[in-house]
Amino acid sequence: MDRILITGALGQLGIEFIDHFKKLNSFVLATDIKNPKEKLSCEFELANVLDKDKMDSLVKKYNINVIYHLVAILSANGEKDPFISWKLNMNSFQNIAQISIENKIKKIFWPSSIAIFGTESNLNFVSQNPLMNPTTIYGITKLAGEKLMEYYFNKFGLDIRSLRYPGIISTKTVPGGGTTDYVIEMLNAAKKGNDYVCFLSENTELPMMYIDDAINSAVKLMSVSRKDLSISSSYNITGFSITPKQLLNEMSNNGFEFKVHYEPDFRQQIADTWPKTIDDSLSTRDWGWKPKFGLKESLNKTLN
Ligand SMILES: NC(=O)c1ccc[n+]([C@@H]2O[C@H](COP(=O)([O-])OP(=O)(O)OC[C@H]3O[C@@H](n4cnc5c(N)ncnc54)[C@H](O)[C@@H]3O)[C@@H](O)[C@H]2O)c1
Repeated sequence: MDRILITGALGQLGIEFIDHFKKLNSFVLATDIKNPKEKLSCEFELANVLDKDKMDSLVKKYNINVIYHLVAILSANGEKDPFISWKLNMNSFQNIAQISIENKIKKIFWPSSIAIFGTESNLNFVSQNPLMNPTTIYGITKLAGEKLMEYYFNKFGLDIRSLRYPGIISTKTVPGGGTTDYVIEMLNAAKKGNDYVCFLSENTELPMMYIDDAINSAVKLMSVSRKDLSISSSYNITGFSITPKQLLNEMSNNGFEFKVHYEPDFRQQIADTWPKTIDDSLSTRDWGWKPKFGLKESLNKTLN
């Protein structure tokens, strides 16, 4: 039986992983640096992932054998203080890796991101292994994490699995400070009948994924035999690609009448170094990845 620890469990993805595992009756220990606003459907412990001894003691106390390590400072927030971002993203990764080796953890899921690419990656259609020169501290930490997960697999047999998530669309939590947050902000503004000021220009195309696809893909990747995985770093994955203008059009088709003004800020420069579309055929080949949600289906779920 899996006994799952989730770090950063109260964030956009963590809350949804908790719900998913609850339905399967799996044991889950949720941890975060803040307390939940409402009672969770699983165990919870307040813990800073940078406190290695505390995390180690929780792994032992709850007999954890699988870890979903979700803590990170995301792309836009990361630029506010790159030193803090490096410290949190990398030291937490190192803590979880070391604790996992010492406690013989079976498997770890750790999300990477489309932020690892850069303008030399052929952004119109990014392959699995192009030239990667990330421009944000967030992308740099994700690329470093990818190198470490390969290294730890080769050196210690540590089984870390990873997906390079695009922007994730969900509305249960407030977005965590990424460059694709405009989608969620626009959806929330429209639901409240407010106009919206978009921080990206109307034709900025970026890859996205509905939350159910994000959760199901991670769970699927974690379920397959390691020998089916032809790479030991992170897999390209995508749902669909859209621009703010296309999102607005589709929302208008769904009966939402509101205005969007475009005032690109520093996040535009980040978006300009990110992929427009992604080649995720290796995920399809190795572990059967197939997205269920396009833009229409994602809006059906989030607007109704
Ligand atoms: N959301 C996306 O669109 C997206 C896209 C690509 C990759 N990812 C990756 O998925 C993972 C989860 O992202 P998310 O959107 O859920 O992030 P989020 O910002 O919504 O949640 C992060 C959680 O970590 C917690 N946290 C912060 N510092 C901590 C610390 N020191 N100790 C313990 N907890 C701490 C926060 O309180 C928060 O609840 C991250 O690794 C992120 O890089 C997310």
